[in-house]
Amino acid sequence: MKDSFTDMSFERFQKLILQRTGIIFGERRRNELKRHVLTTTKKQDASNIDHLYRRLSESPTDSPIWDFFIDTIIVGETYFFREELLFQALRHKILPEIIARHEKDRSMRIWSAGCSTGEEPYSLAILMDQLLGADIKNWHIFILATDINKPSLKKAIDGHYRSWSLRQTSKTIISTYFKEKKDRFHIREDIQKRVMFSYLNLNNPVYPSLATCTHAMDLILWRNVAIYFTDDVIQDVLKRFYRCLLPSGYFNIGASEAAHMSATPFIAKQFSGTFIYQKDQPAMPSLTQTIKPIQPKYPPDTKNNFSADQNVNVNPSIVSTTKVKTESSLSFLEQAEQHAQNQRYTEAVQAYKSHLSIYSNDAKAWFQMARVYANNGDLKHAKEACTHAIKYDPLIVEAYYIQGLINEEDGKLEEAIADYKKTLYLKPDFVLAHYHLSCVYQQTQEDAMADRHRTQSIRILSQRPSDENIPGADELTVGQLLALLTGN
Ligand SMILES: C[S@@+](CC[C@H](N)C(=O)[O-])C[C@H]1O[C@@H](n2cnc3c(N)ncnc32)[C@H](O)[C@@H]1O
Repeated sequence: MKDSFTDMSFERFQKLILQRTGIIFGERRRNELKRHVLTTTKKQDASNIDHLYRRLSESPTDSPIWDFFIDTIIVGETYFFREELLFQALRHKILPEIIARHEKDRSMRIWSAGCSTGEEPYSLAILMDQLLGADIKNWHIFILATDINKPSLKKAIDGHYRSWSLRQTSKTIISTYFKEKKDRFHIREDIQKRVMFSYLNLNNPVYPSLATCTHAMDLILWRNVAIYFTDDVIQDVLKRFYRCLLPSGYFNIGASEAAHMSATPFIAKQFSGTFIYQKDQPAMPSLTQTIKPIQPKYPPDTKNNFSADQNVNVNPSIVSTTKVKTESSLSFLEQAEQHAQNQRYTEAVQAYKSHLSIYSNDAKAWFQMARVYANNGDLKHAKEACTHAIKYDPLIVEAYYIQGLINEEDGKLEEAIADYKKTLYLKPDFVLAHYHLSCVYQQTQEDAMADRHRTQSIRILSQRPSDENIPGADELTVGQLLALLTGN
């Protein structure tokens, strides 16, 4: 019997795709969606489109059937150095400015969100290599590249490209950074190693978080992805990106998508004919000032709200207008915790330091300071603080976990594995350690171990209420991490 793609079929598939991925198939794309559904029905051996619909509804978004479907419905068109004006601005203004900002800590974090087959993050890695030259070995450059399309991510990791992907790339760059083999161009291994590819569905609110390495970004590129999303999803994603950025961090969206930026608090800046957006630098109260009740910078959680503190659990005793303590009556530790909660990292570190100058063996304070450093992307100091925490209390579980995160980001996978294992030795149900072990084993291609820790994570999470916050995971809830693991 021939499958008929009725109005109802269109609506059902449209709704399912929107719910799972945030991608909207509008009326104009009805025939296109019909084609994708029929192709997937045939290729996935479904008996008809209703059967395909049932299988998709019952399967997690990162299951093989969804991998195929997503690969079919999404056009991942991209190429190296796409949009020349943007890359000029990055080369001459944005990246040099960020480099200067990090002259001391020599650490930078960049995220290519919706990276498709990897041309965009590799272009950034090449730019960084050109800008820093031989000195790059003294820097920690973390380039995160994420996408929902697993076949695309696999191609990205392989790093083999046809000449069409290099149509906007200069001959000098091609001869310096690629090796031609048969009809493919292979990206140089050191550049390839500088990018961390990972599956992340932007419709799943698992960012910003230390757990997904999406925190403390200096620059986020989100180009030619918003075209797929509804306005509501776009505004929600933009709010999250805003919070993923460090103060003064930069953001770029495709030129055709720029209209969405008007509803956001990003500051638009024009560089060589292209717009780049910047998160403003919040005014920081000095340590001698009285702590005021926390006022969200933007209105509370209404539509288009971009509160930097959104979803942050604010201690009611802090916001109470009647019982506001002044800084002078708070201990250094209390001050540090309040500053950390309000994402005032510099002040938090100062207050932790003051506390530690008196109680130098307070392992918990060392660990909390490590977390603040890590949240702010300062891995070097985060690691030093972890070392102190462990020295004063070798049983401090969280410090091993943070140390693992730092080593993982630093590409020191063996050391990261050892840290996560120590975490689990001390606390076998520390779910984030299982989760990260599964990610690291995926990178080292030890699939059985990756599966084992993924299953353990799911088992532990399934026993907890889905709205419970996961300790040590910022705002991530049990349900959200489960969704990240199962794609649901
Ligand atoms: C056209 S490509 C853009 C590639 C690159 N950013 C560029 O501008 O050249 C769009 C990418 O967005 C990804 N994408 C779409 N929906 C997504 C979602 N919900 N989460 C993560 N990535 C998504 C697609 O898989 C695709 O690879």
